[in-house]
Amino acid sequence: MSPILKINDIHKSFGMTKVLDGISFEMTEGECICLLGSSGSGKSTLLQIIAGLLQADHGEITMTGLQVLNKHTFIPPEKRPINMVFQDYALWPHMTIRKNIEYGLKMEKKTETVRNERVASISKLLQLEELLKRLPSELSGGQQQRVGIARALATEPSILLMDEPLSNLDVKLRTEMRSELADILRKLSITTIYVTHDMMEAFALADRILVLHEGKIAQLAPPQQMYEEPKTMGVAQLMGYQNQLKGKVIAKNEEETTIQCGELRIKGIAPTNPYNELTIGDDVSIMLQLEATHVDSTSYQHDNYLETKIVQVIYEGSRWRYRLETKDGQHIDGLHTKKLPLNEIVRISFSVQQTRIFKS
Ligand SMILES: Nc1ncnc2c1ncn2[C@@H]1O[C@H](COP(=O)(O)OP(=O)(O)O)[C@@H](O)[C@H]1O
Ligand SMILES: [Mg+2]
Repeated sequence: MSPILKINDIHKSFGMTKVLDGISFEMTEGECICLLGSSGSGKSTLLQIIAGLLQADHGEITMTGLQVLNKHTFIPPEKRPINMVFQDYALWPHMTIRKNIEYGLKMEKKTETVRNERVASISKLLQLEELLKRLPSELSGGQQQRVGIARALATEPSILLMDEPLSNLDVKLRTEMRSELADILRKLSITTIYVTHDMMEAFALADRILVLHEGKIAQLAPPQQMYEEPKTMGVAQLMGYQNQLKGKVIAKNEEETTIQCGELRIKGIAPTNPYNELTIGDDVSIMLQLEATHVDSTSYQHDNYLETKIVQVIYEGSRWRYRLETKDGQHIDGLHTKKLPLNEIVRISFSVQQTRIFKS
């Protein structure tokens, strides 16, 4: 299948700051890619360049076979087969919900019959039928955002661009909307680029996740692959490897790498890629998922274990979270189902399989 969207070698700087440094990727029809990256990594910049709201310094973009950007061409946003949903809803405050949803269709000079049909089907899909006569101010945040999505979908764009559309909602609503949105996108099988800094959102929605780091694509892979095989430390952090210990490489073979960490030796897996070529003596970071860090004061469950002191205790409902200090003064978080006292010496353990080693 030929790609519906082709991005080739996009560069963008603001003054002296290089924000995008050679971004290239392709999307197939119906695919959802989540752009994931820390704040300021260039996610919105890339999305706006794709939308045509911002000029790139260099690069080419092709959509549905149409060249919208190259050295000689710049097709403006309204002529690109896209629509966009923003974080702040951006609804017309003086227009009813129906008028808001219809807006793009009127701009396209669609007949009243077509407009009515589209509003009916889209408001059914997004459960807005009861709200069509209201004004945006009479809706909750979640409902307003649903209208924003309905308005973008009403024009039946080939590609839907969404920039953190749920980030203004409270946690509970965000979680609900996340699965609702995943359903809708799957039902419509609309090609979508979705910007987020939330791993769980990316997991719920993405066919593939694209991580931006220092202007480049750090990794582009399906969620599970990215979670299990993060290529760089930055990707690992975005995938929830929050625990980090410092050490030095003292041995390595095909399967595992051994790290000296204070008095202890820790074994883990060093992802093999050009960013992470390790030799003996290299300074490295040992990265662990919080969920993989078990506080168990009695048993040796795994090959890797550390003796630590509890320096902070946080109750998280179904579990307790402990801030732990190693003998050489490093800090790591661990989980346990039981309450343990402050200053207690506990052993934490984690498997080699769940331990990732990256060059620092
Ligand atoms: N119009 C602008 N002028 C100058 N700098 C900008 C502009 N827009 C974005 N930037 C800078 O570019 C970088 C990337 O911004 P952005 O794409 O908004 O990041 P993200 O959406 O990933 O948080 C940031 O350092 C930001 O300050
Ligand atoms: Mg942004």
